[in-house]
Amino acid sequence: MWTYNPATAASPKTRGHTPEQDTPMHLNAADLNPEETYKLMTGVVVPRPIAWISSVSGAGTVNLAPFSCYTIVSNKPPMVGVNIGRKAGVRKDTAVNIKNNGEFVVNIGDEDLLESVHLSAVEHPADVSEAELLGLDVLPGRSVAVPRIGAAPISLECRLHSITPFGETGAEFFVGEIMVFHIREGLLHNGKIDTAQLRPICRLGGPNYATLGDIVTMATLAQTAKTIIGGAPEAA
Ligand SMILES: Cc1cc2nc3c(=O)[nH]c(=O)nc-3n(C[C@H](O)[C@H](O)[C@H](O)COP(=O)(O)O)c2cc1C
Repeated sequence: MWTYNPATAASPKTRGHTPEQDTPMHLNAADLNPEETYKLMTGVVVPRPIAWISSVSGAGTVNLAPFSCYTIVSNKPPMVGVNIGRKAGVRKDTAVNIKNNGEFVVNIGDEDLLESVHLSAVEHPADVSEAELLGLDVLPGRSVAVPRIGAAPISLECRLHSITPFGETGAEFFVGEIMVFHIREGLLHNGKIDTAQLRPICRLGGPNYATLGDIVTMATLAQTAKTIIGGAPEAA
């Protein structure tokens, strides 16, 4: 493991930047079409974690697809958000299912599951279960009627909180409140996930993924406690 040492770290001025490299290229966002901005943004916002979302259709089909426009939006209650775009204006199966029954599961794939995560993005009709097609066993939810992926080291059972549309392509930001965290035995130590053991995967631009590189441990910084607005501070 590499540990940051301020005494030996290079300063930004000595990292070999040339004047040419310091001259940025300017692209006016208004001149770019949706495909161009998608390519650009998915190369800029990297690496992205992947929400591998299971959802259930009205007919009971278990749908599975990866979404990397994904982040934390609240920690009390815990909430995550995912941006789901459209295919030529039409909602994706995941978006339709979540809208219809208000539930989904965010599964976290590890290195062993990378190929399945990738292949689950193939555009199948709504009556085809990607989980079944890929031979992935599913386990029933505790708080939701949507199953989770048994092989995933972590799964988050979510209830829909809100759907917010953004922009001109019909993309929607789905926020879900986490009801139950499923965490594989041995991954949680003192309330913290052991990232090296988790072996997470992430998405880069195009069909490119990355695995965890070096973990760089910095000095712990004192941070003001997170409290409920108007509530009394809780012990850390
Ligand atoms: C790793 C990965 C990440 C993806 N991230 C997103 C995303 O954040 N938003 C999105 O709309 N589509 C994303 N996609 C594309 C969807 O997974 C794809 O459209 C899929 O067919 C949707 O499936 P569904 O119609 O069953 O919901 C991603 C694809 C891959 C391979």
